[in-house]
Amino acid sequence: MSDKLPDTDTARSKKRQTVIIAALVASAAVVSALVTALLVNVFERKQEAKQPYVRVVQVDEETTDPTVWAKNWPQQYDSYKRTAESTRTRFGGHGGSEAMPAQKLERDPWLKRMFAGYAFAIDYRDRRGHAYMLADQEQTERVRQKPQPGACLHCHASIIPTYRKAGGGDVMKGFELVSAMKYQDAHAQLVQDGHAHPVSCVDCHDPSSLALRATRPGFLRGIAALAASSEPVPHLPSIERWRQGDKQTQYDPNVDASRQEMRSFVCGQCHVEYHFAGEHKIVTYPWHNGLKVEQIEAHYDAEQWTDYKQAETGAPILKAQHPEFELWSQGIHARSGVSCADCHMAYQRVGATKVSDHWVRSPLLNINRACQTCHRYPEEEIKARVDVIQTRNFELMQRAGSALMAMMDASSAAKKDGVTESELTEALAMQRKSQWRLDFVAAENSMGFHAPQEAARILAEAIDYARQGEALAQRAHLKRSGASSTAAVAPDAGAAPAHEGAVAK
Ligand code: HEC
Ligand code: HEC
Ligand code: HEC
Ligand code: HEC
Ligand code: HEC
Repeated sequence: MSDKLPDTDTARSKKRQTVIIAALVASAAVVSALVTALLVNVFERKQEAKQPYVRVVQVDEETTDPTVWAKNWPQQYDSYKRTAESTRTRFGGHGGSEAMPAQKLERDPWLKRMFAGYAFAIDYRDRRGHAYMLADQEQTERVRQKPQPGACLHCHASIIPTYRKAGGGDVMKGFELVSAMKYQDAHAQLVQDGHAHPVSCVDCHDPSSLALRATRPGFLRGIAALAASSEPVPHLPSIERWRQGDKQTQYDPNVDASRQEMRSFVCGQCHVEYHFAGEHKIVTYPWHNGLKVEQIEAHYDAEQWTDYKQAETGAPILKAQHPEFELWSQGIHARSGVSCADCHMAYQRVGATKVSDHWVRSPLLNINRACQTCHRYPEEEIKARVDVIQTRNFELMQRAGSALMAMMDASSAAKKDGVTESELTEALAMQRKSQWRLDFVAAENSMGFHAPQEAARILAEAIDYARQGEALAQRAHLKRSGASSTAAVAPDAGAAPAHEGAVAK
């Protein structure tokens, strides 16, 4: 009996062991099945991340035609196409294909006068949606009546393959060659190569990975020059990081930038201040000292750059062009990490997926998705806040326009009485400074919204320089006509005391 007990115990414990082993085997099987499933899942996810989309057709560097990409990514293409549609806000939007955009020159007559002597005095209109960018350039009187270089196409067409071909495989070399060509010749080349499309998928996306990328040579060089400067750029952390490194290779946004930065850089490829440097007309973004209005001015001054001589006064003028990227850089949104795409390409739900709205347009048409994701107050209030900013900017801009006209009146009156341009040098230098600042805000397309305080600061300086210039012109005039003919000064009421202070040295 006593023997049996252990036997029984052994049998029992054997049974128990078997159960335990079976349980272990079973659970091991379950665990390994789970692990395998997880691994498979991870693997699939990774594959998805590599090839996140089912591709019906292959696209590559040469595929500039967006209708080919549309076969793989119909949702993005459908919204991209809608940039042709008419939209309206108080200061933004456009009439679509219905009508040529309004002449800025007619709306703000001071623009026409300050551009006298330059192609912008002939034809200068509101922008339209991306779908029109090539057509609007082809038909502007600035191109029809004046000789322009191939450099113009840098931001108005899907031109990189044409650069590559012209440079024998070297995009940068081709960029330099095509920029120097006559506009009509470069355009003919673009058409012949089959790339006469407005900004296309391949301009912002790597065709193999679909990752965002910057393709424009002018931008790649400009942002590298900015990185090489010592100007703080807290809103672009990858540049600050690159500066800490060994700097063996120059800053390259396609290698160094974060995805969130790329969501602004793709737009900064074109929505920037630029000029065509040298006889080869190299598209150059003047960011060597920083992105602020006076830093860009300092670069131009150092290069002794002048866009044109103002016809009426002879002042050496800098023309500003759509500095959206630069002004955004000075605003609270950039500082808070909010990108161009956050507002202008807000996510939309399509079925179970989130898609970036490729109908790039005024975010005020889309406040719900563009702003209310962060600002949880009613749409009407958001609109009202924007309107306050834009109205203030608009009114300050009109004042700056009047101040500039008053200074031009003073210079012209002096010239009529025989004061020479060299006697007006100081006054004309003020015109250059004042007009550059006014134009910087006027040519920017958000009516001050992208950086309200910075825009106001710039306009305040524009007004101050204009009034200083007016006083200087009056002084020069007075010197010529002698103290007796004080009538020639014809001071405009109110402004006179300020002039005295400004030039009393
Ligand atoms: C916080 C949101 C926000 C960010 C970020 C932002 N914008 Fe804007 N943008 C606006 C608003 C609001 C307007 C004014 C629209 C209007 O008046 O209808 C505007 C206007 C514009 C316009 C003129 C639109 C039109 O319909 O005329 C352009 C072009 C533009 N932005 C480009 C950019 C670029 C490029 C960037 C990045 C460098 C950028 N924006 C960043 C909100 C934003
Ligand atoms: C650095 C990029 C860039 C280059 C280079 C460039 N543009 Fe533009 N252009 C833009 C952007 C961005 C807009 C839209 C914003 C605006 O209209 O202010 C625009 C708007 C326009 C418009 C429509 C509004 C208007 O001004 O009447 C015309 C026309 C135009 N460009 C012609 C030209 C010509 C001609 C050249 C060559 C002298 C040129 N562009 C070079 C970026 C560029
Ligand atoms: C290849 C150059 C290029 C790139 C890249 C580009 N734009 Fe533009 N954008 C233009 C030009 C040129 C126009 C003016 C077209 C015209 O007037 O015919 C324009 C017009 C616009 C407008 C005015 C649309 C309207 O409804 O009035 C907005 C807003 C805008 N761009 C925002 C952006 C944003 C945001 C990005 C980045 C996601 C971007 N753009 C990228 C060149 C570019
Ligand atoms: C002016 C630049 C620009 C152009 C042109 C452009 N995209 Fe995009 N696209 C973006 C940005 C910005 C995103 C957001 C990417 C991110 O946050 O990673 C995006 C995202 C995407 C995505 C990822 C899914 C999503 O919706 O967020 C797809 C797919 C895509 N684009 C397809 C296209 C196709 C197809 C075209 C041409 C018809 C095109 N894109 C043209 C800027 C552009
Ligand atoms: C991704 C988040 C985000 C989005 C999208 C966004 N904002 Fe903002 N906004 C901010 C942050 C952050 C601030 C800084 C103030 C703060 O910290 O609350 C700010 C500040 C502002 C201010 C006050 C600052 C100033 O410049 O005077 C206004 C007005 C404003 N936003 C309007 C808008 C509008 C209009 C839109 C849509 C076109 C928009 N925002 C989209 C995050 C966002």
